[in-house]
Amino acid sequence: MVEEPPKWPVRIIGIGLAIAFGLLLVVLSFQGAASSFSNKPTSLSNSSSQKQEQKKAPKRNNPSSDIRRGEALFEESGCVACHTDADTPIAPTLHGINGSLVALEDGTTVQVDSAYITESILDPLARIVRGYSPIMPLSYKDDLTDKEVQALIAYIKSLK
Ligand code: HEC
Repeated sequence: MVEEPPKWPVRIIGIGLAIAFGLLLVVLSFQGAASSFSNKPTSLSNSSSQKQEQKKAPKRNNPSSDIRRGEALFEESGCVACHTDADTPIAPTLHGINGSLVALEDGTTVQVDSAYITESILDPLARIVRGYSPIMPLSYKDDLTDKEVQALIAYIKSLK
């Protein structure tokens, strides 16, 4: 009889613990299920992006990926603002220039090749196309990496 009073609190605490533990289990199992659901797509996309990177890596020296990179850079670097698919009063088109003869402001002509295109981008004042103002930004030599210049050249050469 003396032991009876303490039993109630013990039982209540016991039941309370049992409920709390049960809730914890439910919450944990929900989280487990939820994370296994949400993990599946991310692990899938991870492995597919890894595959894409694996596919990309060998293509790095592939001319067609250089051309695509160059096309994106041509837009990002603002070349499109002046160079369109036809000559304009602002700038000559770069379509079909590779291998062609270009008349320069100083009266000479140049046959367009990678070296000339490189110079046109990195040192635009070196040779000016006849009939145009030398308005090309001078900052590309600071802003573009060698690889980016290579990609731009590949793109410009691909323009028919
Ligand atoms: C603000 C206008 C402008 C921008 C921007 C510009 N250019 Fe030009 N570009 C010109 C003009 C004008 C010429 C012709 C005069 C000269 O030779 O500088 C030219 C000439 C060239 C030439 C030589 C073309 C030829 O027929 O001989 C190349 C190559 C060229 N630009 C590439 C580029 C690339 C690549 C970019 C972007 C990274 C670019 N340009 C950005 C105006 C621009």
